[in-house]
Amino acid sequence: MDDLSTIRSAALSAVEQAADLAALDAARVAALGKKGSVTGLMKTLGGLAPDQRKEFGARVNQLKGEIEVALEARKSALGSAALAARLASEKVDVSLPVRPEGHGTLHPIGQVMDELGAIFGEMGFMWADGPDIEDDWHNFTALNIPPDHPARQMQDTFYLPPRADGTPMVLRTHTSPVQARTMLDKNVQQMLADGGSLRVIVPGRTFRIDNDATHTPMFHQVEGLVIDRNTHMGHLKGCLYDFCRAYFEVDELPIRFRPSYFPFTEPSAEVDIGCSWKGGELRVGAGDSWLEILGSGMVHPNVIANCGLDPAVYQGFAFGMGIDRIAMLKYGIPDLRSFFDADLRWLRHYGFSALESVR
Ligand code: PHE
Repeated sequence: MDDLSTIRSAALSAVEQAADLAALDAARVAALGKKGSVTGLMKTLGGLAPDQRKEFGARVNQLKGEIEVALEARKSALGSAALAARLASEKVDVSLPVRPEGHGTLHPIGQVMDELGAIFGEMGFMWADGPDIEDDWHNFTALNIPPDHPARQMQDTFYLPPRADGTPMVLRTHTSPVQARTMLDKNVQQMLADGGSLRVIVPGRTFRIDNDATHTPMFHQVEGLVIDRNTHMGHLKGCLYDFCRAYFEVDELPIRFRPSYFPFTEPSAEVDIGCSWKGGELRVGAGDSWLEILGSGMVHPNVIANCGLDPAVYQGFAFGMGIDRIAMLKYGIPDLRSFFDADLRWLRHYGFSALESVR
């Protein structure tokens, strides 16, 4: 009997004094484990007389239950103490500055394409696309540049191996082949026959054998094309005036049309914008110098006929502008080659926030 009350107080005080979960588990093993004190009492039951065994067994079982309850109580006390200690030591200081987070930037070319889409979109233009790898017919012949025409020498073309059927292939030297692709489109022809008006811009990659501070073998152009029954040279001028002033954000931007030659337009004009080079720094919209930014003209009747439309019925204008060049001019970027170096420092400096508003 004495044994039992000694074991009881030893076990309960070990549980009570356990300072952490490891000590508590040690107290459990010391009492209830295989070689524990209470388990030891159970083992003595076999040597007792039956009536004693019943009475003593009940008391040992009760003791076992008591210890288990104490273990549970101590365990939850230790748990809330540990939580309280963590809460006290691990404070979140909400006044600390946030960790810097890396944000990507939009490349100036993408930004300018978005601006082009917004400005021409307001004028009712749609956005069209064409392949970078183009066949000779769309890039040249359809545009009134037949084989052996000297105008083919105007552009330093990357020629590709011909297709299996012999079709000569090139990397497109301008976005103008998409003029032909658009006019040849059955839905566009139906829309025109129904009295509609075709207005598209074609921003995209173009390729020429050229490489210096203002030329790269891959560069970007935006083509513009308007075809209907009435569009004339006055519309061409008005459209490009409005575009240049909106894009460069200069209301009084000086703009000059200069007679020029392209096989696919007649008459043709190149467009210059006024600028100054004071102190070696380029400023658009002021001063006494001119910078060429695009080629344009009334679509040649031969091109309209090559694309399956009747030039006696349909007419319109087209233009082609260097996107890289107008990006350099608007955003003061001196070297074209840096556009395509993928230098993170350059991209952080000249890139745009994704949420920068377009106009
Ligand atoms: N395709 C011409 C070029 O790359 C530009 C242009 C387009 C000129 C449309 C007139 C009309 O130089």
